[in-house]
Amino acid sequence: TARVRVHHLQQAKERGEKWAMLTAYDTFSAAVFEEAGIPVMLVGDSAGNVVLGHTSTVPVTVEDILVLTKAVTRSTKRSLIVADLPFGSYEASPQQAFTTAVRMMKEGGAQAVKLEGGVRVAPQTRVLTENGVPVMAHVGFTPQSEHALGGFRVQGRGAGAEQLLADAHAAQEAGAFAVVLEMVPAPLAAQVTKELTIPTIGIGAGADCDAQVLVWPDMAGLTGGRVPRFVKKYADLRGELLRAAREYADEVRDGVFPGPEHSFE
Ligand code: KIV
Ligand code: NA
Repeated sequence: TARVRVHHLQQAKERGEKWAMLTAYDTFSAAVFEEAGIPVMLVGDSAGNVVLGHTSTVPVTVEDILVLTKAVTRSTKRSLIVADLPFGSYEASPQQAFTTAVRMMKEGGAQAVKLEGGVRVAPQTRVLTENGVPVMAHVGFTPQSEHALGGFRVQGRGAGAEQLLADAHAAQEAGAFAVVLEMVPAPLAAQVTKELTIPTIGIGAGADCDAQVLVWPDMAGLTGGRVPRFVKKYADLRGELLRAAREYADEVRDGVFPGPEHSFE
């Protein structure tokens, strides 16, 4: 079957069909998610936290995302692969954004890019979309601005609702094909979803968005410690991996592994 394309997501919105996006950072996860029928995967800069061991997405580099994007695009052929533009790689000018986005497509093999912001990065979004780069916007809580936003908090409450609406509309007007709404009150996300013609993708934004996204190690229970309220854990991969690693170590120590069936004459 053919690759999912931006216009398929537009058609899904028109038909009222919801869909799920997941992050992906490596060849195993991407292949599994494609087999599961996940139409869109994001090589998110959440890799900074969940893959690279940073405490935020701020230190993530273009090279980091490129390496992960290559791994994901090599093992997928149907899912639409979106590469996140890291902090500092697109804000300065549309030219800077275009140079980075072209690398994600030419070197990484991505079919689209995501950047954080609405009104603020509308010039970037316009230049990219007018030059053949499909853009996914990301508004509401934008993790790259965590230090400016005063930490992890719901955006768009009270007077912030006007800003959120302005950002979402600016993204659409500048040509974005979809917009992620992160940590936005559900009624406001529902309003944005109704007002926009492009799909909204919620994370901590309630049930009325056109699509949802989760960070896969969070939803699969691989992430240790606390996960945000908006995460649902669909598996306990951390527990399962812990069990497997312990059992392997025990069996080696006890001389149970390798057995004759794992050995050569
Ligand atoms: O980096 C990421 O994983 C993201 C999603 C949470 C939207 O930006
Ligand atoms: Na991100």
